[in-house]
Amino acid sequence: MGVWFWRLILLSLAGIIFSPKHCVSQKETGRKYKFMQDATSAPRTSYYDYIIIGGGTAGCPLAATLSQNHNVLMLERGGSPYGNPNITNLSAFGDPLSDTSLSSPAQRFISEDGVINSRARVLGGGSCINAGFYTRASRHYVREAGWEEKLVNESYKWVERVVVFRPPVLQFQSAVRDGLLEAGVLPYNGYTFDHIYGTKVGGTIFDQNGHRHTAADLLEYANSDGITLLLHATVYRILFTKERSNSRPVAYGVVFKDAHGLEHRAYLKQGTKSEIIVSAGALGSPQLLMLSGIGPAHHLREHNIDVVLDQPLVGRGMKDNPMNAVFIPSPTPTEVSLIQVVGITNFGSYIEAASGENFNRDSQQNFGMFFPKIGQFSKLPPKQRTPEALAKAIEKMESLQEEAFQGGFILEKINGPISKGHLELRNTDPNENPLVTFNYFQDPRDLEKCIQGIRIIEKIIDSKAFSPFKYNNMSASSLINMTANRTSISLAQFCRDTVMTIWHYHGGCQVGRVVDRDYKVLGVDALRVIDGSTFNYSPGTNPQATVMMLGRYMGVKILQERLVADETK
Ligand SMILES: Cc1cc2nc3c(=O)[nH]c(=O)nc-3n(C[C@H](O)[C@H](O)[C@H](O)COP(=O)(O)OP(=O)(O)OC[C@H]3O[C@@H](n4cnc5c(N)ncnc54)[C@H](O)[C@@H]3O)c2cc1C
Ligand SMILES: *[C@@H]1O[C@H](CO)[C@@H](O)[C@H](O)[C@H]1NC(C)=O
Ligand SMILES: *[C@@H]1O[C@H](CO)[C@@H](O)[C@H](O)[C@H]1NC(C)=O
Ligand SMILES: *[C@@H]1O[C@H](CO)[C@@H](O)[C@H](O)[C@H]1NC(C)=O
Ligand SMILES: *[C@@H]1O[C@H](CO)[C@@H](O)[C@H](O)[C@H]1NC(C)=O
Ligand SMILES: *[C@@H]1O[C@H](CO)[C@@H](O)[C@H](O)[C@H]1NC(C)=O
Ligand SMILES: *[C@@H]1O[C@H](CO)[C@@H](O)[C@H](O)[C@H]1NC(C)=O
Repeated sequence: MGVWFWRLILLSLAGIIFSPKHCVSQKETGRKYKFMQDATSAPRTSYYDYIIIGGGTAGCPLAATLSQNHNVLMLERGGSPYGNPNITNLSAFGDPLSDTSLSSPAQRFISEDGVINSRARVLGGGSCINAGFYTRASRHYVREAGWEEKLVNESYKWVERVVVFRPPVLQFQSAVRDGLLEAGVLPYNGYTFDHIYGTKVGGTIFDQNGHRHTAADLLEYANSDGITLLLHATVYRILFTKERSNSRPVAYGVVFKDAHGLEHRAYLKQGTKSEIIVSAGALGSPQLLMLSGIGPAHHLREHNIDVVLDQPLVGRGMKDNPMNAVFIPSPTPTEVSLIQVVGITNFGSYIEAASGENFNRDSQQNFGMFFPKIGQFSKLPPKQRTPEALAKAIEKMESLQEEAFQGGFILEKINGPISKGHLELRNTDPNENPLVTFNYFQDPRDLEKCIQGIRIIEKIIDSKAFSPFKYNNMSASSLINMTANRTSISLAQFCRDTVMTIWHYHGGCQVGRVVDRDYKVLGVDALRVIDGSTFNYSPGTNPQATVMMLGRYMGVKILQERLVADETK
């Protein structure tokens, strides 16, 4: 019986004394679930079978599933998405992304590459601020990941029953679809979630009324007696102990702070199968492992962090799929649309589109997915996108005539990517962004996919189907030069200079490097990472379907493992 055992006994006693039944304020706005509460009302110490860090796209389906048989605590640093029109309203897409205040559900970060990016800070995670497109991973991807196909399919369906809808494909999206077919991205596969070559219409988490449904809605599946969800609960570190000086570190609790800055601790109930699961996203998960002492030893020491495990691969393999888009001013009005149609080419480039409505200066209406205010800025190369240049571009845009904003964007995202970067701590504050580098197009194969993708976009622009949405006097080539703010530019240079993000960044705790195929962190016990940080490549054309699926899938796997373990006891 080690020190750990006695520590737990003492802590359990403390827990009995200091663990009043959580008091709940029904007045809190946006309080959809009775098990959801602000962390300020949480006890200083509490005990659970599972502690999930991050109530995001993977965390919510995971918590809902584990709560069926166990006591689960989920800690989310952000607030509730319910009742916030910036989140629930499709046409408000740009609002969270342009809101850079501390209370915004989106936290802006700028990679060392110079590309402006954003990460979620809200219950439901990225699914609350994203463009809503829903599409599954390929069968090849599922096999490579070593997942069981049957359970994968069941898990996707479990998600789809609650949050996925068929988009209303209107005039602009239809023109892009037909243009893709003219450009030879064949066959036409109709409306499907499957990842297959050709052109298709995918699903969306926006319903017919333009209302967003998010991963937080998957908590409808939760067992309300088995789950505690704390909002505005920022985890500072995971606690580890060791049976003996030479044994593996074991995770046994977490330290988190509420909105008043008060520190709380949550511990695992004693029992060999209890676990802490990190679902803090591609930036948050590697950052939190490092803050807890798992990472490259020399780097941790630079920040005076006690090293629990020297793991040089934490924060390695950071990837962001580059996105390049061409703006096409239109003589005819276009609907407001985010992504609905996708062309899946056989050379690794995915073609998608978004369209805007007339820019309404009075209401500060956003312009679809591309507007410097939300950080999407391609008129200058990444390194030149300084705050001053961005401010100038926003000012210039706001002075333009409304007609200048009528039109749409056709974009391409490459698969993979192969190019990769790294993440380091900037400081020891979990509220601040770590330093992240993606090295867009460092690998020439990534660049080649981009060039070929732009050639398809040129064909779509010049297609018969697309002709109502472009001016006759503007060729595809002139639109490309115009998009890059240049009189002449090669396609390779276009790819490099106009690179933006489609926010599908991933990696940092990759399978085979930081976690094993069961998502258990290598070298320690009672700790897993389950979210987009574990991906080696981005799944499907867009990842959210597979992130939600993974939360459900691993929840079911863990429940099954527990049943087997309890039976053989
Ligand atoms: C603007 C935008 C548009 C996108 N468009 C699409 C699209 O159309 N289709 C698509 O498929 N994908 C899209 N994506 C990508 C997709 O949304 C993400 O890949 C996915 O949401 C990532 O899920 P995750 O669970 O890995 O992380 P997240 O959903 O980000 O979850 C991580 C959670 O952890 C919380 N957290 C982090 N650190 C801590 C801490 N220390 N303590 C407590 N909580 C913490 C965060 O607040 C967050 O809620 C888009 C993303 C963005 C940002
Ligand atoms: C959604 O946003 C649009 C544009 O700002 C606005 O006109 C509409 O009333 C909003 N709808 C809801 C339900 O908030
Ligand atoms: C909605 O977004 C706008 C613009 O970014 C911001 O000013 C406003 O405070 C946000 N509202 C909420 C409820 O978050
Ligand atoms: C899973 O779904 C895919 C795509 O819909 C289908 O092709 C495949 O046969 C299914 N596999 C199983 C095992 O059900
Ligand atoms: C376009 O390029 C010129 C010259 O390189 C630069 O001065 C200008 O600011 C750029 N436009 C925008 C909107 O950034
Ligand atoms: C193309 O035609 C439109 C509308 O007739 C006009 O406003 C625009 O200046 C022209 N553009 C070019 C590049 O000639
Ligand atoms: C755009 O740039 C390309 C490449 O430099 C050049 O060949 C082409 O003529 C330019 N197009 C127009 C319409 O100026």
